[in-house]
Amino acid sequence: MIKKISPCRSLRGKITPPGDKSISHRAAILNSIAQGRARLSNFSPAVDCDSTLKCLRALGVNIRPVSSVPGAIEIDGVGKAGLREANDVLNAENSGTTIRMLSGLLASQPFLSIITGDDSLRSRPMERVVSPLRLMGANIWGRGNGSLAPLAIKGGQLHGIDYRLPVASAQVKSAILIAALFADGETTIQEPSKSRDHTERMLQAMGVKLRVEANRVSIAPPDVCLNSVDFRIPGDISSAAYWIVAGAIHPDARIEIKDTGMNPTRAGIVDVLLKMGAKLRIGNQRHSGDEPLGDLVAESSELAATEIGGDVIPRLIDEIPVIAVAACVARGVTVITDAAELRVKETDRIRDLVGELRKFGATIEEKPDGMIIHGGAKLRGARCCSHYDHRLAMALGIAGLVAEGETLIEDAEAVEISYPAFWQDMQRITAG
Ligand code: S3P
Repeated sequence: MIKKISPCRSLRGKITPPGDKSISHRAAILNSIAQGRARLSNFSPAVDCDSTLKCLRALGVNIRPVSSVPGAIEIDGVGKAGLREANDVLNAENSGTTIRMLSGLLASQPFLSIITGDDSLRSRPMERVVSPLRLMGANIWGRGNGSLAPLAIKGGQLHGIDYRLPVASAQVKSAILIAALFADGETTIQEPSKSRDHTERMLQAMGVKLRVEANRVSIAPPDVCLNSVDFRIPGDISSAAYWIVAGAIHPDARIEIKDTGMNPTRAGIVDVLLKMGAKLRIGNQRHSGDEPLGDLVAESSELAATEIGGDVIPRLIDEIPVIAVAACVARGVTVITDAAELRVKETDRIRDLVGELRKFGATIEEKPDGMIIHGGAKLRGARCCSHYDHRLAMALGIAGLVAEGETLIEDAEAVEISYPAFWQDMQRITAG
């Protein structure tokens, strides 16, 4: 699908971002192996989360929509020993979180599983999850000596490990934590920088004892089953990010963004935009379960360039495409470093973002681990392409809103991967 964006005079209105994708994956997986029934409301409508649900159903879990509550699902947990061998290959499609977290789960199961994904996922690195699971005792095979999907996994009795992750990755950390639930001893994971901690929070809410100190987490396998938890999933800050930036860079904007997750391991974009001078207010701060959330208001701002690198990177890794759009219009030179992980996301997000934003007339240099953005450009509408990467599609959409002239985005339907209603929400706030 080609999406046409025309610049608009003003941006006004309220947005409620969809349920958080990361938290939805975790709530579905962990409640599937808990004891009892869980109701998850505001479950993410993302195609990625549906991939997780399809895999869990294929493993024998009963998961159904709650007909009286839109956006809610119910899961009948099968307990730690209740999954059964799927009768076909599991397909994680485009979702790295699905394949990596489920690898941790399947590594503990006494049956054979084969899990694959789409062209993009089959080119993404898997040795980062395969290596620690093999150390725990799992048998895993994959192309390239276990570095690429499809993966064939034959689980068995796992052992606790003391493991230092080479890169900060919540997907890998979560896979090891899930496998560790089934191990015969304690597991400790140390990360170079702290990645999102939704799995740790949810496991604690389900009765598992964890020790968390700075970038290190230790888990002892629980004697009993996890308790299922009903949970209202907070809005996804990674989806809110597009409206936060749109509000800040459009010359006549006031956008309210409701019920947004504000977990500090995810909220790096708020810190960076405030540092750039954004008029961004956070109010009504509260909790949903163990996750903090709030309401945001983003208004037209004069942004200044900044430096983004180090420990903040895992806290905003998925928001870098839209932060780069903000940097294109900010005054001065923005330097992004320590973000080489972007090269192994759904696309090579450094190469493709630089290539696409240059089509708008932006001056950007590509670096091995980031980019240098010479701001202050007046963006010109362009024909560009998402490369079927949802976050590129949405970031280019926001560039189109402030560019001069018309923008055409190819493969714009990629937004369905995390935010299916993105273009409708854009329509609503540009209508006034
Ligand atoms: C995610 C973790 C991050 C993030 C991805 C979702 C998660 O990936 O980029 O979109 O839900 O755990 P890494 O774990 O590879 O850093």
